[in-house]
Amino acid sequence: MVLQKLNLILLIVIMLLKQVVKTNLHLSISNIAPSFSSCSSSLFQNIQRHSSSSVMRAIQQDEFGGPEKLCLGNASIPEPSKNEVLVKIFGTAVNRADCLMCKGAYPGQKKNSKPDILGLEMSGKVHSVGLASTKWTIGDRVMGLLPKGGYAEYAAIDENHVMAVPDGLSLHEAGGIPEVWLTAYQLLHFVGNVKENDIVLIHGGGSGVGTAAVQLVRLAGAIPIVTAGTKDKIDTCLSLGAKNGFNYKEGEFAPGVLEATGGVNLILDCVGGSFWKQNVACLAPEGTWVNYGLLGGANIDGPILGLLLAKRASLLTTTLKSRSNEYKARLISEFSRNALPYFVKPAIVHGQEIRLKPIIDKEFKLESASDAHRHVLGNKNIGKVLLIVQDEKD
Ligand SMILES: NC(=O)c1ccc[n+]([C@@H]2O[C@H](COP(=O)([O-])OP(=O)(O)OC[C@H]3O[C@@H](n4cnc5c(N)ncnc54)[C@H](OP(=O)(O)O)[C@@H]3O)[C@@H](O)[C@H]2O)c1
Repeated sequence: MVLQKLNLILLIVIMLLKQVVKTNLHLSISNIAPSFSSCSSSLFQNIQRHSSSSVMRAIQQDEFGGPEKLCLGNASIPEPSKNEVLVKIFGTAVNRADCLMCKGAYPGQKKNSKPDILGLEMSGKVHSVGLASTKWTIGDRVMGLLPKGGYAEYAAIDENHVMAVPDGLSLHEAGGIPEVWLTAYQLLHFVGNVKENDIVLIHGGGSGVGTAAVQLVRLAGAIPIVTAGTKDKIDTCLSLGAKNGFNYKEGEFAPGVLEATGGVNLILDCVGGSFWKQNVACLAPEGTWVNYGLLGGANIDGPILGLLLAKRASLLTTTLKSRSNEYKARLISEFSRNALPYFVKPAIVHGQEIRLKPIIDKEFKLESASDAHRHVLGNKNIGKVLLIVQDEKD
């Protein structure tokens, strides 16, 4: 009897001990687990093991889908071709197009292909140069426009798609400049043909493109006004020099725009469908509406042609990613000449000092790319959401 009791007590003690060991084990494992999503445990271990020069960390995805599909993996470091440079990346940024590409929903993307490494822009230091490349020297601080591949430690890039990072800007800040500033410059000068004193209505005023466009409109001696969906976004645009701001969530913006301006000469429109009727209403005679995004849908149901015709107005559309290498090189060259200097010293326009600055909303580490995508998809950002690839002192 006594023996039986002793056995029972021993059994209970053993079970309790097992539970304690299990809990401790679990705790210690979760303490060392990475706080980001890695592609698979074997890939992650590969990254740790490889210190060789041919492998880099990169954000990858096994299949198309939402931000949860993005994970940290490894990839081969690209080889620069003869007119390319290899850049060691310090910073990159999230663009709306990345969110579409992550899903496989970007125009022209093949659903059955393997997802590419995302990332349309980056900044860093020139690591090596191609055989026929003469424009850049190893160690130069540069930023550039990529067709893909920015969410990684290295990118090979056409030497003509690279710009010098202005003095005074960090490499991290510079990682968010190329895509949205070049888009805004293209909309205004290559497509919309902005002129001094034009009134320019910018939708998505708080977006990366919007915050750059407000500043470039002022640099062109024209007058920016914006729409946005929050007071904070409108206030940021007003602080950057927008003359008026309208919250499109609080009612129709067209009556306010018309009352304030009498009609606008140019509209930079990333919304499309849901804004079409108000856009036509806002245009001055012979005004130009440039559509470059479809956040509000692609469908229009109404007499758009008759309404445009009555004003002799133009509707233009444009994209940057699908442009030729030569077009991108020309855009980058003109932007470098006409806008980049004013990130360093002010321009005097109509007697006022204008100094350009990148508007940064938030920084995420490269491995937290999925969180960065969620932030952008939630429309939370004012300006750019950066991905930090490595510390500036490295
Ligand atoms: N064609 C091109 O070459 C090109 C190049 C770059 C970017 N883009 C396009 O330009 C747009 C801006 O890009 P980004 O990276 O600067 O964007 P972003 O920083 O992510 O900002 C986009 C903002 O648009 C607003 N928005 C979202 N849905 C909307 C809707 N249905 N109606 C009205 N406003 C809406 C949201 O702000 P609110 O709080 O104000 O709603 C959102 O924060 C995107 O559509 C992008 O695809 C086109």
